[in-house]
Parts: sequence; structure tokens; C-alpha cells
Amino acid sequence: MQTVQDLPALRAAIRNWRSQGQTVGLVPTMGNLHAGHYSLLKLARARADRVVASVFVNPTQFGPNEDFARYPRTLAQDQAGLAENDCDLLFAPEVATMYPFGAEQGASIHVPGITDTLEGAHRPGHFDGVATVVCKLFNMVQPDLAVFGQKDFQQLKVIEHMVGDLALPVKVIGAPTLRADDGLALSSRNQYLSAEARVLAPQIHATLAQMRELVGKGHARRIVEEAAQSKLERAGFAPDYVAIRRVEDLSEPADGEREGLVALIAARLGTTRLIDNLQFD
Ligand code: PAF
Repeated sequence: MQTVQDLPALRAAIRNWRSQGQTVGLVPTMGNLHAGHYSLLKLARARADRVVASVFVNPTQFGPNEDFARYPRTLAQDQAGLAENDCDLLFAPEVATMYPFGAEQGASIHVPGITDTLEGAHRPGHFDGVATVVCKLFNMVQPDLAVFGQKDFQQLKVIEHMVGDLALPVKVIGAPTLRADDGLALSSRNQYLSAEARVLAPQIHATLAQMRELVGKGHARRIVEEAAQSKLERAGFAPDYVAIRRVEDLSEPADGEREGLVALIAARLGTTRLIDNLQFD
């Protein structure tokens, strides 16, 4: 596996593959890779001749009081893991490569509507940072396809919206969430959990499953959301949101609507913020 940090080296490698008629899949990450990331890589490998993974802790998607400074940076370990998982090229750019005019002065992409709710409402500016860096990565790598985890469900929707709206020639693929045996969605942030919090954390997935079951049995959406929120609070979580939305655009379903829904939760457990979701169909 080749590792490159700068744009000319990245473009030379891609040009070489393209000249041989090969297709390219991209897996964008912020590093600290785990089995969930490697499952994205496997999906990209199945669909493209060549696989590029990017590792970049993107400053513009973190709010001022978020975990940018302490976000785990484990490049050597990621490099070894990617090589073992059949990655062809690791792109690990410096901030100056991604933001040549500085993170504050660069052009920014705003996807309206779908970014106003849920994560967007609790993390102002977060999706501008995500959309901007993903668009830059698409322009740099020029992949045929890119794989993103469904765990960050709203992020996936925002990227699909951006790609559709800006007619970017990239096929966006959503990959299923990988879970620990007790249901906790794999995430780089799980390592922040204390031993006590780690025992409680799977209740997020259990609550999502219960919400799905109750809606399936005909219970009203709002009652199900409120009951789930109270249950999590009683267990020691501080939920940012507990919501049932339409899969398509994350808008609020009408009363009695049962098809094409997803339940989404974001909750703090101590100092760690966890998110997860579960589709109903
Ligand atoms: O999901 C992530 O790890 C990040 O939000 C992404 C897509 C790599 C953009 O920085």
C-alpha cells in the first residue's frame, strides 16, 4: 500500500490507474480505524478495482467546544490496518493541503434544509464542514464511488443531497453499521467511555429496537419518542434528540405513517456523545 500526503502524488497514482482503465473507490475517514471502517473498505473493494482511504481529522466539522484536540490520531496503526485490509492507497493530507487558504478563509458548502435538524440543530456548522471536506476529497481523488457508514445516517443523507445537487460524478454507497455483540455501534468515540458507561451504552441500540417494535405495533410516533427519551434519561443518558423520521429526507412523518422510517438517537453519557439509528424496514 502506498501512502501519500500531497496532491501531486495522489493525482499521479490515480492517473496511473485510470490510464489502465481501472475504477476507483474512496473511503473517507478521520482515522483511528476499527472493524466498522474496514467493512467500508471491503465494500469499496468489492465494487471498484482500486481502493483509496483518506485519513484526515477535519477541523471545520468540529464545534469550538467539541473534541477536535483530543480526537484520537493513530496514523501508524491506521496505516498498518489499511495495508492488512487490502487498501491500495492511503491519502493522509496536512490541513494546508485540504485548506490552502486556511480553514477560516476557504470556500464552504452549505446543504440547506436537511442540515437544519437533528445533528445539524445540535452541532451548528458541523455539516458545512463535512460537506466541504467531502467535496474537496471527491475533487482530489475523483473516485467512481465512495462508501460512508449508515451509522452517521444524516451525514450520508447530506452527502447524497450534495452529490445530487452539484451533479458530482460519484456513486455514494451507504454501508450497514457494525455492532459489538451487545448492540453498541462501533465508533472511534466508544473508547472515551468509562467502564461503567460502556455497560450502559448498548441501551441506545436497545431503545431504537424498542421504538421500531412499538411503531410496528401501531403506537403513535410522538408517544414512542417521549417514552424512549424518558427511559434513556432514567438510565443516566442526556439525550440531544430521540426522533422518528422519514428515511428519504429526515422530515417528520405524518400521524399513522409507518413506511420508510428511521429512528435516530444522540445522547451524552458522561462526557461522551453517542449517536445511532435504526431503519424500520
Ligand atoms: O464520518 C467521518 O469520519 C467524517 O465525517 C468524514 C466523512 C470522513 C468527513 O470528515
